[in-house]
Amino acid sequence: MKAVIRSLGSYAPIRVMPNDELAHQVDTSDEWIYSHTGIRNRHIAASDQAASDLAIEASLNAIEATKHDGGPALEANDIDLILLATATPDYIGFPSTACIVQAAIGANKAAAMDISAACTGFIYAIEVARSFIIAKSARTVLVIGSEVFSKIVNWKDRSTCVLFGDGAGAALVCAAEDNSSLAWEQGHLGIGYLASDGTGAEHLIRPAGGSKQALIPGVTSEEDQFVKMNGRQVYLFAITAIIDSVNKLLESNKLTFEEIDLVVPHQANRRIIEASCKRAGWDESKFFMNMEEYANTSAASIPLAMDELYRAGKIKRGQKIITLGFGGGLTFGGNFLVW
Ligand code: UT7
Repeated sequence: MKAVIRSLGSYAPIRVMPNDELAHQVDTSDEWIYSHTGIRNRHIAASDQAASDLAIEASLNAIEATKHDGGPALEANDIDLILLATATPDYIGFPSTACIVQAAIGANKAAAMDISAACTGFIYAIEVARSFIIAKSARTVLVIGSEVFSKIVNWKDRSTCVLFGDGAGAALVCAAEDNSSLAWEQGHLGIGYLASDGTGAEHLIRPAGGSKQALIPGVTSEEDQFVKMNGRQVYLFAITAIIDSVNKLLESNKLTFEEIDLVVPHQANRRIIEASCKRAGWDESKFFMNMEEYANTSAASIPLAMDELYRAGKIKRGQKIITLGFGGGLTFGGNFLVW
């Protein structure tokens, strides 16, 4: 039994906030943001849109795509498990955002849970889905990354508010026979790599609102309610994490970097990707980047990027693809697939 990514879907809120608009709110400029990050725009959810609302749209897109790929169309009822990666759940703790999505799309047979691994969440969720399928515990897994960071960033802190955006992406991960070559059973998942370094937990953190520091109106400081980041430390960690993840994936899947056709990294910052390529001696043109339009959408950034490539027909049969995540926790890792 092997696990394949049968289809993808995504959703970004309609409202686009360009850098120039931010420059009216904090002491920043389009020039600074673009030159330091590669970001020009971010999409911002409406005040009544939660992570589940974005996730539902992306999931329905992924389900719909199975009606047009020549294979048997999948329905929400075929889904055995929903894994939803998010750092901005609808509710703190429970109910899980995955359960809200399960009810809304009518996935009546599915178990549902959230995965908390910040910007690496989608990578973790895909590897969990692959493991469930190989263990024959599930045949069809809906994997989602959905984030509404606009609701947890400090809009007065220029060092963080310019970096993030909202969005969602979803993938249907399905069981296929080992020797299957059916046209719609594409995206064969190889061995993934998951890692963590909790000693760096404080470098990217939302201090208040959990059981460590309850959110008490009038007592909790304003900054502690929002994302706090030691940008320099996270930048240095990210480069090491990317190089380590790629090397581990190449080793376990018995490949060289030259054999890889496409790398889809977490879309945090163009300079992180450039610096990693320079240090490792990799061809940067293999790295797909779309942070210019969406900024850093945390757990949603990889499926958003994958879906953009998928819908544009830019992923070709037989291509070897690496996806890479890094972020809060600290967490990092990657998935490997052959399309
Ligand atoms: O999903 C993972 C999440 N996080 C990341 O990937 C972020 C990783 N870190 C980074 O990408 C970079 O560290 C940043 C983009 C966040 C910052 O870039 P940097 O080149 O490391 O800037 P810096 O923090 O060293 O700050 C340089 C200067 C400072 O001014 P002074 O002290 O030199 O006068 C900052 O106050 O830039 C200033 N600055 C800004 N200026 C204009 C910081 N943010 C801004 C801003 N606009 N938005």
